[in-house]
Parts: sequence; C-alpha cells; structure tokens
Amino acid sequence: MGRETVIVLDFGGQYNQLVARRVRECNVYCEIYSYRTDIGKIREMKPKGIILTGGPNSCYEEGAPSCTRELFELGIPVLGLCYGAQLMQHVLGGKVERAAVKEYGKTEVYVEPSSPLFQGIESPTVCWMSHNDYISGAAPGFSICAHTDNCPVAAAENREKQLYAIQFHPEVLHTVKGKEILSNFVYGVCRCSGDWRMDSFVEDSIREIREKVGDGRVLCALSGGVDSSVAAVLLSKAVGKQLTCVFVDHGLLRKNEGDEVEAVFGPSGAYDLNFIRVNARQRYYKKLAGVEEPEAKRKIIGEEFIRVFEEEAKKIGAVDFLVQGTIYPDVVESGLGGESAVIKSHHNVGGLPDYVDFKEIIEPLRDLFKDEVRKVGLELGIPEYLVFRQPFPGPGLGVRIVGEVTEDKVRIVQDADAIYREEIAKAGLDQEIDQYFAALTNMRSVGVMGDERTYDYAVALRAVRTVDFMTAEAAEIPFAVLQRVMVRIINEVRGVNRVVYDLTSKPPGTIEFE
Ligand code: XMP
Repeated sequence: MGRETVIVLDFGGQYNQLVARRVRECNVYCEIYSYRTDIGKIREMKPKGIILTGGPNSCYEEGAPSCTRELFELGIPVLGLCYGAQLMQHVLGGKVERAAVKEYGKTEVYVEPSSPLFQGIESPTVCWMSHNDYISGAAPGFSICAHTDNCPVAAAENREKQLYAIQFHPEVLHTVKGKEILSNFVYGVCRCSGDWRMDSFVEDSIREIREKVGDGRVLCALSGGVDSSVAAVLLSKAVGKQLTCVFVDHGLLRKNEGDEVEAVFGPSGAYDLNFIRVNARQRYYKKLAGVEEPEAKRKIIGEEFIRVFEEEAKKIGAVDFLVQGTIYPDVVESGLGGESAVIKSHHNVGGLPDYVDFKEIIEPLRDLFKDEVRKVGLELGIPEYLVFRQPFPGPGLGVRIVGEVTEDKVRIVQDADAIYREEIAKAGLDQEIDQYFAALTNMRSVGVMGDERTYDYAVALRAVRTVDFMTAEAAEIPFAVLQRVMVRIINEVRGVNRVVYDLTSKPPGTIEFE
C-alpha cells in the first residue's frame, strides 16, 4: 500500500462500512477486509492502524470469528469495537460473558479524559450501545478507561502496546462524540497525517488514468447516474477525445431519462465527449421475455450491457479500455471486500460475465463511497442536480418490476414513478428522502372503476431514509401526499387499480424489490 491506510477487519457487523466511511471523513484512507485475511498479508500492507468491527457472535463460542494473538503484536495500533473489543480482550486473556443486563441504545458513558481516545471529550458522553455480551474483566496490561452504570468495562486500553477496546459504536451518529473518538485514534494514536482528500484524489486519478491509458482508446459505459457520470467526466478530463461514451438505452430507464442524459452529455451538452446513444430497447425486452427469477434477470441485463458495448467497440475500431462506475459499496456488497454475504450480484461487479472483450476494465471510483463520489463530482464541476441525483440501479426498472419484464409493464412503472416523483418534489420532500420510487408488483387484483370490474396491477410506492444504503427505514410521507399520488396513478396510468406503500425497513427488506 503506497498511501497511508487504516484497515478495518470485518467481523460481520452491520455498521462495518460506516466505520470505514467515518475514518475517511477524518481524511484518512480506509479499506475493509475480512477477518480471515492472512496475518502475513496484513503485515505487508503496513497499515497505520487496524480497526476490528462489531459482529453478531459471542467470541467465546466455538467457531466464532476470531483472530490470532499475533495481530496484537505487530506493533500497529489496534482499535476493537463492540465484538472486536470483546475479541481483543478474550484473545489477550480478559473475560467476556453474557451480560445480565443487555445494553441497547443511547447510553451515558463515563470516560477517562486522560485516555488518548477520549482527549477533549467531556464525561459522561452519550454513546450507542448494542450488545448482549460484555467485558467483565479487562485483559492483563489493560486499564479501564470508560464505564457505564451497567458495564464495568465500556473501554479498556493498553497505551504502551497501542491497543484499545471500546464496547460502544463510535461510527454511529447516535454516539455524539464518535467522530472525535475515531479521529483521536487515527491521529492521536496511529499518527496519521490525513492525506486523503478529494482534490488530491482527482489529481492522482487523472495522472494514473493517463499513465495507464497512454494513447489507447477508452470506452465508457454511461448510464446517466451519478457514478457513471462522475467516472465519465473524470475520464474525459484525463484523456479527452480518446474517450467515447456509449449510453445504452436499455428500455429500463426512468421516464424521459434517455433524452435527459443526451441533453447533458450529447453534442449540445457541456462536455467535450464522443457520445453515442444506442437504442437497445427491443433487444432487451426480447432477452427478458419469460424470465422471472431476479438473479437471472440481473445477469441477463448485465451481460447484454457488455454485449452491446462489444458491438459498439467493434464499430468504433480498436478499443483498449472499458470504464465502469463501480463504487466501493458495490465491491463490498458483492462479497469481494469484507465479510458480507452476497445479497445481490450488483450489476457492475458480480454480474459481469467472465469473458469481456476488452483489454482491461478501468473503475476509477472503485475505492469510493457514494458521498465521496459526489464530492469528486463537485470537484470536477459537474452540476449539482446531477451530482445529487437519486441512486438508480444498473439493472434499472428491471429490478423494480417483480417477475417478468414486458414493454407494457415498463410503461406502467415509468408513468407511475414519474407521477410519484413529481408529487414528492411538489410537496418539497425530495431533498429529505434519500431514495424513492414506484415499483410494479406482480400482483393483479380485482377492483371496480366506473361500475366496471377491473383486474389490474398493484403499484408499490417505496421511500426510504438511509445514511449508507446498507440499512434503511421507510420514510414517513404525509398521508395527503400519498393519497394524491394514489389518485393520480389510478386515474392516469392504464393497467393499475391499486397503490400500496411499502413500510419495510432494510433489513429485513432490501431497498429495491429484486
Ligand atoms: P438494495 O436493493 O440492495 O439497494 O437494498 C441498495 C442501494 O443500491 C442500489 N442498487 C443497485 N445499484 N446496481 C447498482 O448500481 C445494482 O444492481 C443495484 N441494486 C441495487 C439501490 O438502488 C439502492 O440505492
């Protein structure tokens, strides 16, 4: 690793990406690895610090995720969080047991102000606790530097060995001084210099892309979403006219989106790009006919995408590189990074066919979280309305139509979604809700319209609040707004006789329907 890095070892907890994001917010680059990562590899990486995440297990149970004692003997500062804290204590000879009183939620924690972790933090301070087990005895060499009314060891430290264990979650916003605690760790303990900045990311990326591409030709998959737009502009700044952007209209875009993308990136837009719009709609509908299984649909959409690109590349002539807007959460969620199970094969990563007919794929945003991609976008001068556009999945409406995709169903979901978006914007809620869209359920039911029996589809409205898109809550939309949307959809969209609002949080649901 050339750049100053802190690594996060993932023990399967739900906030693991947040840990990495918070560290990066301190301007320190951070990557997530599985707890199974070989100790030799960790040594080679020479991280400035290691953070062990939370996780759902009990560290004293057989088969629970563990780590070797050596991890604490590398001379590299280690911070254990929740499960990671318990594991550190357990491995080094402390005692971890099932707690008589479970702690969950905001909790007052009494901290020792002289601890390097708690510099500048007043005691008590409100922290987010979520644990069944607790550290009942700190390991030899450790002293207790925080406690709560129910938890004798809310934090323990061995300053000499630079080992720190904290029972609560500093990465969660409910921990009022969480960012300061992580900052104390990366600066005060790990002695990082804080060289991770978006302006230097842009400069470095442009230089690296130029070196890599040389005088080669580059083809960029432009979807019009934030990620691919930022990737395209970054590439255009790096290699100018060597770049051709191909925008595949796969017929699974939001209403009017194709024209909007063309207006921004096409010949009359602000950027100096070679822009090609491919109309592949019918081709997609044909491939998707009769396919109901979500993963099969995703694979087809992803694969067809690559095939279309190959064909375009052939028309253009020799193309050496393909650009994709993959971002870090796609990598982690596809099971290529940390410990997370593969929930869905993300279109940009796991969904790629094995054989791709290009020399190499360039993914300039592969290391970035969404908010960092946005910062890069602003840094590059991309208009704000594009940079803050809602996320839209690569497989598009294909994953918002439950079951088989047909042209008619696409029309229904496009029209319903356009109405929903219009009304949310009119109600002034568009900046408050992180993601909202209409989806078409595969359910048809009986209704009555103008004295006639109908047997039509149910549209589901979804709106979520989320910080990281890994967990989410259904947004509370005023009933009057929902009702207005319902009335308009039923009246204006042929084929719909029922509208429902999805209350499911993630987990157990996902944000998209498939
Ligand atoms: P889920 O449905 O997994 O969605 O809870 C989390 C976030 O990811 C987006 N999403 C995707 N983005 N390719 C993408 O580029 C995909 O295949 C994909 N699937 C889901 C989704 O819109 C949400 O913001």
